[in-house]
Order: sequence, then structure tokens, then C-alpha cells
Amino acid sequence: MANGNTNTAQATQQPPKHFNLVRFLATCLLALLVLVGLAVLITWLIIRPKRFVYTMENGSIQNFNLTNNHLNATFDFVLKAYNPNSRVSLYYDYIESAVTYEDQTLAFNTVEPFFQPHRNATRVESKLAAQNLALSPSIFKDIKVEKASGEIQVDVHFKSKIRFKVGIWKSRHRNLRIVCSSVTLHFSWYKHFDKVPCEVEL
Ligand SMILES: *[C@@H]1O[C@H](CO)[C@@H](O)[C@H](O)[C@H]1NC(C)=O
Ligand SMILES: *[C@@H]1O[C@H](CO)[C@@H](O)[C@H](O)[C@H]1NC(C)=O
Ligand SMILES: *[C@@H]1O[C@H](CO)[C@@H](O)[C@H](O)[C@H]1NC(C)=O
Ligand SMILES: *[C@@H]1O[C@H](CO)[C@@H](O)[C@H](O)[C@H]1NC(C)=O
Repeated sequence: MANGNTNTAQATQQPPKHFNLVRFLATCLLALLVLVGLAVLITWLIIRPKRFVYTMENGSIQNFNLTNNHLNATFDFVLKAYNPNSRVSLYYDYIESAVTYEDQTLAFNTVEPFFQPHRNATRVESKLAAQNLALSPSIFKDIKVEKASGEIQVDVHFKSKIRFKVGIWKSRHRNLRIVCSSVTLHFSWYKHFDKVPCEVEL
């Protein structure tokens, strides 16, 4: 108590000392902030995160049968997953794919989990089957028209749980969504497939 009193007394007698302490603490805090900022910047510069790129490379529809408002069809898709990063690799721990037509899900399936090294392109194959799927009359009519035209436009969705790996550090699970919109499938097998760039949500 007495010490505190004399200190206060001294402080009031010699204001510069008090200011020095404040200035010292402020300098420390500033230095710490600069150091943390530099650490973040250096880490970022080393890792240089780049966006993952997904492209629908091929797609086909087979065993198509549309009878009495019911649909049978099998779909084959090849998604190219490209990881342009030189230090970040990826675990795809769970992948689900779905093909939709006018917001109606025609078929879904899961894809084998895989690990993607840095600077790697991997072809992800997905087979889906619609089996005796009941359709609303309007969707039945629309698909019938598309079949007559020789091609059908569908959307292909992928939902994935991924983890990043940088050096020995692994991130927690994050959700990755990939949407390939307006994928045109031809009913004639000899028709050329046009690649479709896909959108990514992370
Ligand atoms: C696309 O898939 C079809 C059917 O599986 C196949 O015949 C064709 O060769 C594939 N095209 C390419 C470019 O891979
Ligand atoms: C489609 O399915 C119906 C009912 O199962 C069958 O009668 C018909 O022969 C099938 N058509 C084709 C082209 O396979
Ligand atoms: C779909 O295939 C199942 C057997 O796998 C058959 O019973 C059904 O009639 C087929 N439906 C259509 C619309 O072809
Ligand atoms: C990408 O990684 C997979 C699995 O490790 C490997 O099979 C494939 O050859 C790699 N592709 C390239 C272009 O390095």
C-alpha cells in the first residue's frame, strides 16, 4: 500500500516516466502486431493458395427408357479436378454426385474418396442410374421433347467433404460444392461432348 502510494506520488511528480511506460507498451504491441502480420504474409506467400478448378470432361446417357411417366436411364460423367497449388494437397473424404433436370433429381450416387496431391489433375468418374423413377407429368413431357430433339440438358452436382494438407498440417473438414450447369448429353453416342466449366463453392 505504502509502496503504491510512493509510486503514484513519484509518477505524478515525474510524468515523463509514466509516459515512457505507456510508450514502451504501445511499441511492444505494435511490434507484436507487425510480427503477426509478417508471419501471416510470409505463410500466405509460401503457400500461395489458388482456386481449385473443376471441368466436366465427358458425359453420356444410356439405357434410356421413358414409359408411363417413369424413367430408366444410366448416366456416366467424368469430372476433371485440378489442384493448381504447389503446396496444398487435398483429401476428398466423401463425395456425392447427383444429376438433376429442372430441379428434379434424376439419380444420385457416391464416388470413391481419394487424395489429390499438389499440382495434380484427377479424373473423377461417376455412374448414376435412374431406376423406374416416377416423374411429374410436366417433367415427363419436357424430357420426351428433349429425347425427340436428340439431346438433353442436365445439371450435375457434387457435394464433398474435404481437408487441406500443407506440409504436415491438416485442416478440419470443410464442405465443397461443385455445380456443372447445362451439361448437354446426346442420345447418339457418336456426338461430340462439349466440356463444361463448373462452379465451386467452398
Ligand atoms: C466420352 O464417353 C463416351 C461414353 O462413355 C465414350 O465413348 C467417349 O469416348 C468419351 N469421350 C472422351 C473424349 O473421353
Ligand atoms: C421400355 O420399358 C417398357 C416397360 O418396361 C418396355 O415395354 C419397352 O419395351 C422398353 N423399351 C425399350 C426401348 O427398351
Ligand atoms: C425400368 O427397369 C425396371 C427393371 O430394372 C423395369 O421393371 C421397369 O419396367 C423399367 N421402367 C421403364 C420405364 O423402362
Ligand atoms: C494425380 O494423382 C493421382 C493419385 O495420386 C495419380 O494417379 C495421377 O497420375 C496424378 N496425376 C497427375 C497429372 O500427376
